Amino acid sequence: MKLDIQGHSGCDITIVTEDNELHIHKSTHDAGYVPRLVNQANKQIAASKTEYQHIRVPKIFEVVQTPTDATIKMEYIYSKNFVEYFESAGFEQIKYLIGAIKYFIDLEINHSTLQTVPSSILTDKMADVARKVEKNVHLKDDAEAQELVRRSSDVMNGVGDMVMPVGTCHGDLTFSNILFNGNNYYLIDFLDSFIESPLLDIVKIRQDTAYLWSTLMYHKPFDKVRLSIISEKIDTAIDEYFTEKYDWYRRYYMPLQLMNFLRILQYGHDDKVIAYLKRVIAGQLAILNNSKNA
Ligand SMILES: Nc1ncnc2c1ncn2[C@@H]1O[C@H](COP(=O)(O)OP(=O)(O)O)[C@@H](O)[C@H]1O
Ligand SMILES: [Mg+2]
Repeated sequence: MKLDIQGHSGCDITIVTEDNELHIHKSTHDAGYVPRLVNQANKQIAASKTEYQHIRVPKIFEVVQTPTDATIKMEYIYSKNFVEYFESAGFEQIKYLIGAIKYFIDLEINHSTLQTVPSSILTDKMADVARKVEKNVHLKDDAEAQELVRRSSDVMNGVGDMVMPVGTCHGDLTFSNILFNGNNYYLIDFLDSFIESPLLDIVKIRQDTAYLWSTLMYHKPFDKVRLSIISEKIDTAIDEYFTEKYDWYRRYYMPLQLMNFLRILQYGHDDKVIAYLKRVIAGQLAILNNSKNA
């Protein structure tokens, strides 16, 4: 059997039968993408060495690499995607999921050390975003987008050096990269992050729980009301938990969430997505502005 599945990264994903078992082959034929995919495999292998409650990582059997191609061969997971899972999940299951996310991130925090991330990391990234927006044909003549970028630059200039845990991070912890199998949640699609911090994983999961990003990318019909209610429940639980526990979360979550959406905006090409991103970013700037004046 050989089945093709469409992901977001442009990699080929096929289900293959080997030794009577189903495997996933994730491959790229883009030489520029090879180091990223290999790094993804290495992160996944490293994560699979830690024991998490309810969180698992598909086993990697082999990574095949040439200068122009790479393939990750891994365990196939029978699972539901987040929409299918939330359609049927009851209250108890959502509680498990919340617990598992908190536990996973707390473990990442334990495996990290508090470090000073220099302000230049953020301001350089911001300059890069501004350049990319300026070059993006869908945005360069969009006065509203340009104004949001300008106001965001002011925010990033005001953040300064940041003290936060650095060391471990999934890198793209959105719902679309979690495979749901009963009360076990399999993490896939590990990625480089511009700051290797667990805070960036909280930013990514809240990209979905607070802003419903992955539903925007989901093209089959689903119960939007149910999904919003469940997402909000998860979001409130995560936000309250980390707000109470960590000063760096209270200080830097919001500017880093803004940066997260700016980095999506810079590559925006779909009108509907760009409109959504501008709405989200304007809302974030309003919150940041209010908290500054409070
Ligand atoms: N180990 C796996 N077992 C089962 N399905 C998988 C596995 N890895 C990937 N998939 C399927 O492929 C999709 C895309 O995989 P992903 O690694 O997130 O690719 P992309 O980098 O393109 O986002 C997943 O949403 C899932 O449906
Ligand atoms: Mg993915």
